[in-house]
Amino acid sequence: MKVLVTGGAGFIGTHLVERLLNEGNEVVCVDNFTLGKQENVDKFNENSNYKFYKIDINDTEAFCKELENEEFDMVYHLAANSDIQKGAKNPLVDYNDTFMTTFSVLEFMRRKNIKKLFFSSTSAIYGNEVGKMLTEDLGGLLPISYYGGAKYASENFISSYAYMNDLSVMTFRFPNVIGPNLTHGVIYDFVKKLQANPNELEILGDGTQTKPYIYVLDLVDCIIHMTKDIPSGVSIYNVGVETATSVTRIADIVCEELGYENVKYNYTGGNVGWKGDVPKFQYNLDKIHATGWNANYTSDDAVRETVRYIKNK
Ligand SMILES: NC(=O)c1ccc[n+]([C@@H]2O[C@H](COP(=O)([O-])OP(=O)(O)OC[C@H]3O[C@@H](n4cnc5c(N)ncnc54)[C@H](O)[C@@H]3O)[C@@H](O)[C@H]2O)c1
Repeated sequence: MKVLVTGGAGFIGTHLVERLLNEGNEVVCVDNFTLGKQENVDKFNENSNYKFYKIDINDTEAFCKELENEEFDMVYHLAANSDIQKGAKNPLVDYNDTFMTTFSVLEFMRRKNIKKLFFSSTSAIYGNEVGKMLTEDLGGLLPISYYGGAKYASENFISSYAYMNDLSVMTFRFPNVIGPNLTHGVIYDFVKKLQANPNELEILGDGTQTKPYIYVLDLVDCIIHMTKDIPSGVSIYNVGVETATSVTRIADIVCEELGYENVKYNYTGGNVGWKGDVPKFQYNLDKIHATGWNANYTSDDAVRETVRYIKNK
């Protein structure tokens, strides 16, 4: 297959591009390096099945024009703002990089008659549904972050484009993804803070925020597994792990792995890290497990592996 990967120079995108190339696909990668890095994708340059375009996908016309001579069997759309805290400071960030990138991709697919799409959505679309088991068919969703709102708006636009243009779409709603090449988030913050001061660690909230963390290679396995044969219409899956890890537990693992003892934790208080943060949620994973896929890493394992990666880097 010849595939387009948007956001392919980013954290998850880099792993996906690698797997798609290893599976013998021709891969065209698009990124504007907002958060992705040239060095992440340099290693693919020697592969004759790989091509890169630096394009800002928000500019629908420029994006369509730049790629007008390329033909694709499928698009993996990963480009988005992945930094929810950055988006919380300026709603335009998610309007542009999370919603408009999706619009541009859909419009490109319509004009080029491309029928297959993978979309990377998020647990953030569910909003703050405390105590509810989150299933894919839950209605009346009220996202609380601009990021969650822009992803949910994207899912809705995808639904209409899918109906109007006979698309086959695989949408994954995943929780925090961690592993090699991670660029930001709680683990990164803790490592940086501890390197600056190994005696004390500031923890946002009260440390009880508890979420599932999926290891990036588990997620990529699942993407490959589920996009081999996409049914017509829109298929939506929660993809994650059954286990969850609290922020305090992450701090413990980071301290253990970096060899820091007797660190004093200073909690900023409240049960959320920042406004728009969803402190706890519980995914129902029955639908994805029924396909035969299961994650290999628990949340704690994924955190530990990620800290080891950052340490060795
Ligand atoms: N990492 C997570 O925990 C997580 C969780 C749920 C969903 N997701 C989704 O998965 C996808 C990949 O996330 P990631 O963690 O690899 O993030 P990332 O920031 O590393 O990757 C996103 C890539 O998109 C690129 N990009 C952003 N705006 C662009 C634009 N206008 N034009 C071209 N390129 C643009 C960035 O430069 C970056 O390389 C995103 O859609 C994200 O929302 C991530």
